[in-house]
This record gives sequence, C-alpha cells and structure tokens, in this order.
Amino acid sequence: MSEDHFKKLVSHCKEYGFIFQSSEVYDGLAAVYDYGPYGSELKNNIKAYWWKAMVQMHENIVGIDAAIFMHPKTWKASGHVDAFNDPMIDNKDSKKRYRADQLVEEYVERKVLKKAEKEIEKARKRFGDDFDEEQYKTTNPRVMGYLEKAKTITTRLNTSLTNEDLEDVKNLIEELEIACPESGSRNWTEVRQFNLMFNTQLGTIAGEAGKLYLRPETAQGIFVNFLNVQKTTRQKIPFGIAQIGKAFRNEIVARQFIFRMREFEQMEMQFFVKPGEQQKWYEYWKEARMKWHQAIHPAEALRYHDHEKLAHYADAALDIEFQFPFGFRELEGIHSRTDFDLGAHQELSGRKIQYFDPEINESYVPYVVETSIGLDRMFLATMANALVEETVPDADGKDSTRTVLKVHPALAPVKCAVLPLLKNKEELTSKAREIFDRLKLSFACQYDEKDAIGRRYRRQDAIGTPFCITIDFDSLEDDTVTIRERDSLQQERIAIADIDKIVSERVNMKSLF
Ligand code: GAP
Repeated sequence: MSEDHFKKLVSHCKEYGFIFQSSEVYDGLAAVYDYGPYGSELKNNIKAYWWKAMVQMHENIVGIDAAIFMHPKTWKASGHVDAFNDPMIDNKDSKKRYRADQLVEEYVERKVLKKAEKEIEKARKRFGDDFDEEQYKTTNPRVMGYLEKAKTITTRLNTSLTNEDLEDVKNLIEELEIACPESGSRNWTEVRQFNLMFNTQLGTIAGEAGKLYLRPETAQGIFVNFLNVQKTTRQKIPFGIAQIGKAFRNEIVARQFIFRMREFEQMEMQFFVKPGEQQKWYEYWKEARMKWHQAIHPAEALRYHDHEKLAHYADAALDIEFQFPFGFRELEGIHSRTDFDLGAHQELSGRKIQYFDPEINESYVPYVVETSIGLDRMFLATMANALVEETVPDADGKDSTRTVLKVHPALAPVKCAVLPLLKNKEELTSKAREIFDRLKLSFACQYDEKDAIGRRYRRQDAIGTPFCITIDFDSLEDDTVTIRERDSLQQERIAIADIDKIVSERVNMKSLF
C-alpha cells in the first residue's frame, strides 16, 4: 500500500459519502470528521461486529453506556490530570508545534530503518529464492549498524520519557540534527509537557470547582460503575464490562485523516480478574482479539507490538498493529492495568470498591485486563484493506478499470441493490419496487433505476454492495432475476422467492465467527 493509495482512499471516502471534513463550509475543523450515509452504516456494522463478539458471545461480559462528562475527581484518580501529557516542541521559525517523541520516531523510521530496508531489498534481489532475511540482518555489518542505531535512539528516547527528562529529549533532537519538516529550520523551543484533556465549565459553578473534562477514554465510565454492574448483574469474577462511546483528546499533531482525531470513538472492554491471574487473561485476550481482526483482515497486515514504555497504570501492554497505507501502526491496545484504577477510585472516593470472592471467602480489588480499539481506526483499516482498483471485462468483453470496495459482506453498508433493467418500463420498475419493498425488511437495500446498468453496477461496487439484483423482461414471465456477486462478477439466474435467503445467508455476521 502506498501514499498514492492513501490519497485515493481519502478522496473516495468523500466522493461516495463515507466521510466528510467537519464544518467544511467554514473550511473545516482540523482532525474532526463527520461520517456520511455509507460511512455511518459501515461504522454501525463494525460496532455491531464488536458488540456481538465481546458481549453477545460471552456470558460473562455485559455492556454499558456511560456519560461523557464525569466527576472531575475521576480524572485526578485515573492519573489523567497529572500524567496524560505529550511532550511538545515548537519550531520558532515556522511556529509549528510537534510532538517531540514523534519527531525522533519519524527520524528513526525515515533516516535509519528505511536505509536498512533498502539494503535488505537489494540483497533479496541479488540472492533470489536463497535469501534468508533473518540471517542477513544478523550478519551484514551495514544492516546491523542501522538496526543498532535505531535501537540505541529508541531506548534513549524511552528512558528520557520514562524519567521525564525532557531536556534530554531536546538534546536528542539536536544531536540527530532533526529539522522542522515545514521550514527546514533547527531553531527549537524547549520540550514541554502538554495535557491532552479538553475541558469545559459547568454552567452553575464558577471557577476551578466547575471545571469538567471531556473524557479522554471510555474506560473510566466502566471503572466507576464496577460495583453497580457487578451487583445488578450478579457477575462472578472473571467477568467483563464493555462500552462503545466517544472520547476526546487535544492531540498536538492530528493527521493522517481519521487515524488521529481530536474527537473519536472507542470500543473498550475491562475484564476483571483475580489478582495473580492477569497474565493468563492477558494472553487470552491477545489471542481472542487477533482472531477477531483476522476474520476480516489478511493475517500479514496484522502484527503484535509489545510496549517498551508502559503507561502509568500497566504491568504489561501490547498493540495490535495494522498495515495502514502509511505503515504499520497501532489499531488496538491490550493492557494489563493491574488494580490501579479501581484502587485509585477507592482511595479518592473513600468508598470500598472491592469484590467479595465466595470461593476464597475474601474481598479484594480485582485486577483488570483491558482491550481498547479505536472505532475510527478500525474503519480506516477496513476501508484501506477493502478498496481496490482492478481491471475487469466490461459488457462488450473489453478491459475496463473498476474501483471496488471488497468489504466483508457482513460489514457492507448496503447488502443488496435492486435494479430494474430499464427506467421507463413501468412493468419492470413496479416489479423491482415490489422486490425492494420485501427485501428491505431483511437487510439494508437500495433501489436504483438511473443510468445504464453497467454504471449502476460500478456505483454499487464503489460503496461495496455485495449483491446486485437485476429485473428484466424474463423476470415478468418466470419470476426469476439475475444476481451479480461483487467480487467474482459471477451472474446467476435465481428465483425471486430465493433472493432473501441467499443474500441473508451471505451477509450474516455468523460467517465471521
Ligand atoms: N483506555 C486505554 C486507552 O485509551 P489508548 O492506547 O490511548 O488506550 C486506545 O487508546 C485506542 O484508541 C488506540 O489503540 C486507538 O485505536 C484509539 N485512539 C487513541 N487515540 C486516538 C485518536 N486521537 N484518534 C483516533 N483513535 C484514537
């Protein structure tokens, strides 16, 4: 996947009503996006797939929908007031603000690892089928040098960040001679911490006391409701609480379309376990979540990435990364959060937040393993993986190019399009409408009679509709239609009475499990 593919993806999202820039008439609002008609359908289907996998398929996981606003003490207890910061640095000439850690990471990727990759590719061509990449990486002095350099820089960055040694992060930027991507200047300010939470003011209380935050993660709504949910659903440990909802972060650098937004949606699940059993459940969720991704994405586009630098609440953490058009990046996080959050809320609220375990006749603060995925990132991954340009034979048997969204049928925004062969033949359109009115009770359907049939097929391909049904003159005689399958382009004659069953079976989420 390339930069070019990414550009096409962004314009496809706009042209076909998946995603629009927020407040576009006012030239947009940076890193905030609106989902259009097909985008919101696809997003809802991704949510449904997640909810089914996490809540419906697990007897011991229940869902909630907590408010975005929470008592401000929540964020003190969680550590977000004191520690939810990114190190920022400004360029004095361009006046552009950057994340200092990202400047260093990008340097490592572009200036160091890219060179190693180039050497490896050259060798691969030279040695052909006999090439052993692992052996080459550990024996070729030049490649070893690049990899060692990347490791040294990354370790130093992580150590400086962990020790909050921002002066050393600045030193590192200077030593590596990193220049502002905009101005090319190396005239930098000091590195400072920047809190990522948005805040607002409660109308009835003036000053600090009325300061509210927009939640930067949905997880805290789950933690503060732990006892409410456990008691009302009589769950026994281990059990989980799941939630889908908006989160807000004042990202310093928000870019790459919907990859990093200031307002986004998370799908999070906190799994409460007996202390000491967190490692076992961490492994369980690591596998389970990868399987969920692999049902819709190719295995080679996914990988694990263990965290070197752990967040303040974690004793183990990893990302499931996806190969986006701009490289492998975090799609989902799996975090073993210990008893940090429940313990902190217990302490600050003064209320006992514990589970009485009847098996050992003891109360304790449970440990937590969290799975946390950004819905918008999952949307981007799904689109990036599915959007394809390919050459296919047209109606006259000549080659033509089509843009097709090969999204899994269970996630497709529209499942079936109903197309009368001709627009101005009332007998065809009324028969098509009759079929459409029946099918729309079962799944998302679209009726389309405008333009030649080939163009209508292409429109449906572009939004990922897995099936097109064409009603022609034979349909009036024998109650059959042509069903066209999006990916294979195979056309088959089937009975009108069978359409519902055939399409329903193929678009059912069952096929993802
Ligand atoms: N409760 C844990 C938590 O929030 P995180 O790694 O900060 O962990 C979890 O975020 C997921 O949320 C990420 O893997 C990513 O998919 C998504 N995410 C985080 N920040 C985002 C942003 N600014 N825009 C879009 N998605 C974001």
